Amino acid sequence: MMQAFLGPLSPEHLRCLGCGTAYAIVHGFPVVLPVGVPHADAQDEALVRAMEGLPACPLQALLREQVASLRPPVLDMGCGIQDWGRPDILGLDARLSFLKRRGGPGVVGDAQDPPFAPESFSAVCLFNLLDSVPNPVLVLAWADALLVPGGELLVAMPFAWSDVVPERLRFDWDTLVACLEGRSQAMGLRLRYAVHSQWRDVAWSGRGQGEPAFAVQVLRATKGPPPTLPPLAP
Ligand SMILES: C[S@@+](CC[C@H](N)C(=O)[O-])C[C@H]1O[C@@H](n2cnc3c(N)ncnc32)[C@H](O)[C@@H]1O
Repeated sequence: MMQAFLGPLSPEHLRCLGCGTAYAIVHGFPVVLPVGVPHADAQDEALVRAMEGLPACPLQALLREQVASLRPPVLDMGCGIQDWGRPDILGLDARLSFLKRRGGPGVVGDAQDPPFAPESFSAVCLFNLLDSVPNPVLVLAWADALLVPGGELLVAMPFAWSDVVPERLRFDWDTLVACLEGRSQAMGLRLRYAVHSQWRDVAWSGRGQGEPAFAVQVLRATKGPPPTLPPLAP
């Protein structure tokens, strides 16, 4: 998995085997973010407290049930503080404080540039993340790259688009499903998934206290073999 990209340097640092850059290990979590990108801020503890106080909801129950049957190794991208009862699942989140609260193995990093080798995971979770990042299409492309053929993708999507997501990179549920199934290239991706389960309008208590409840769309899909490219013209 990560070993393909990160080698040990000292107990406090990892070194990228490609470019030699050293990354800090903070509270046991590698911080694989470009220099200058903050991985913790003053709001973090307040956010953690707000999320801890959220009531259990149908979305959590559904995701917990689905996650239980995923084949390892599993990556939860944008994991937040969610502990799915599977201590083997690797979490990736931009916020160190969330990983500390979550426990278990984790990496502080950017889902738009994750520090893992292609085809490193048998399952990837994208729960309530795609509408929060500046480039959701890039995150989806990375999730696909990180999955082995035959691997499983679990997506939960509240469509509560954050201001950081430009209009041109937003999409609706039908477009996402069509792109995953290779019926559309509207997102600029060539994908080939079998979307075998969908759950519509599952209630989620939100991102923090005081936020409205969301109706979340959820899918589970299996990655097929790479699409065949047309032969190059002679
Ligand atoms: C709405 S929360 C969802 C958390 C969790 N997946 C859940 O369903 O409860 C979005 C999470 O994505 C993380 N996040 C946002 N942008 C990110 C990025 N570029 N890379 C990694 N994590 C990111 C946030 O820190 C936050 O934990």
